[in-house]
Amino acid sequence: MTTAADYSEKIPNNVSLHEDRRLQRALESWQPNFLSWWDSMGPALPTRDVYLRTAINVGRDGWAQFGHVPMRDYRWGIFLAERDPGRMIGFGEHKGEPAWDKVPGEYRAELRRLIVVQGDTEPASVEQQRNLGATAPSLYDLRNLFQVNVEEGRHLWAMVYLLQAHFGRDGREEADELLRRSSGSLESPRILGAFNEETPDWLSFYMFTYFTDRDGKYQLGTLKESAFDPLSRTCEFMLKEEAHHMMVGTTGIDRVVERTAQVMVESDTDDVAGLGVVPLPVIQKYLNFHYSVSLDLFGGDTSTNVANYYTAGLKGRWLEDRRRDDHKLTGDGIMVDALTEDGEIGQAEVGALIGLNTDLRREYIADCQSGVNRWNKILADAGLPQRLALPHVAFNRKVGAFSGIEASPQGDKLGPQEWERRKGAWLPTDVDKTYVRSLMQPVHERGKIAAWIAPPRHGINGKPFDYDYVHLS
Ligand SMILES: [Fe+2]
Ligand SMILES: [Fe+2]
Repeated sequence: MTTAADYSEKIPNNVSLHEDRRLQRALESWQPNFLSWWDSMGPALPTRDVYLRTAINVGRDGWAQFGHVPMRDYRWGIFLAERDPGRMIGFGEHKGEPAWDKVPGEYRAELRRLIVVQGDTEPASVEQQRNLGATAPSLYDLRNLFQVNVEEGRHLWAMVYLLQAHFGRDGREEADELLRRSSGSLESPRILGAFNEETPDWLSFYMFTYFTDRDGKYQLGTLKESAFDPLSRTCEFMLKEEAHHMMVGTTGIDRVVERTAQVMVESDTDDVAGLGVVPLPVIQKYLNFHYSVSLDLFGGDTSTNVANYYTAGLKGRWLEDRRRDDHKLTGDGIMVDALTEDGEIGQAEVGALIGLNTDLRREYIADCQSGVNRWNKILADAGLPQRLALPHVAFNRKVGAFSGIEASPQGDKLGPQEWERRKGAWLPTDVDKTYVRSLMQPVHERGKIAAWIAPPRHGINGKPFDYDYVHLS
């Protein structure tokens, strides 16, 4: 049962906001702060309007509307997936009990923390991407960047709604903090490491939307299982929007690989650095970097906090209801990454509950591999023998069992000196970054595209590639 979206309100929503004046006032007083954050930290390129999809409802028969809108007037709204009144908790010690509409007092601090950490990533990525508009390879790509940006803004709204509706005064304070921290800031950085890295070029943007947004997809997937029903319903709807962000990353890398392969074949050389495209070894280095920092986002290989979240019913597993076990896991075990007694790369068996981060990271890794397979198919179809690969889990890690050692992408342990000597072959060097940046000449002309990337197979919402997706001002 859900109410139809109220689109006439200042804050579009399907949560009957007008029935709760206090909450409505709290959100309406946060709204101008959000807009001033958007003005100062959102997309820097001035535009008149952009062909955007706006979420207007959550139903099967269309939840989005497309049209040219000035970005600042985007209708950031609050949408929760439909409520299932009979929903039961699917895991943990409360398994089989009705889902919660309110936050239980005993889990208040933990739930608030989970929502804040998720909420913090949403504006962070907008901040990281704010200067990319100036170097967009086409109007189509520019529009996709802005679509991702406005939707991350909406995801911030989604988390702020939960904080303000369910966590009283601390929730309001946390909502303000979400606008105060900023990506890369020394005094008040974003909470998670990968969200303080810069996204200086479009290859990084596609890698970010492929690898780092995909971490977001998996985190939202676990929160969608939550016993706290408003969180579950919020995340379920956010996942619909995330699908587009995944598409931008996947097809973005497709198109970079495709164009590089084309030039390699045409010029009959592997050495394409002078030919205006990104050489495959550089694509591999960018992949190595973004994949390894994204693995860190899943946290330590073992975690008692996460075990407690699971047992309490706050955060489940990816596709919890498809797992064939007791959904309590108290007697089960899992092999996790670990250093052996003599400090070598290995594994160790731990209780399944404390190994839940590992469980989620493995689901993610399998999904990442599917992208690599797709890019390798593009190379194979072009008749090229080169292949891309995910580096070993021990490579370039700053969190977890392997954070204290260095390893090659093949998983060979290296001493610190050897690592220093060889890392430039595996991670983007200043020379690589400068080269990639030199390719980033803006193409803001309708129907045109930069030379380092192939055009997309399809436009947006049935429109052709040469549609006027963005009007610059
Ligand atoms: Fe998001
Ligand atoms: Fe996203």
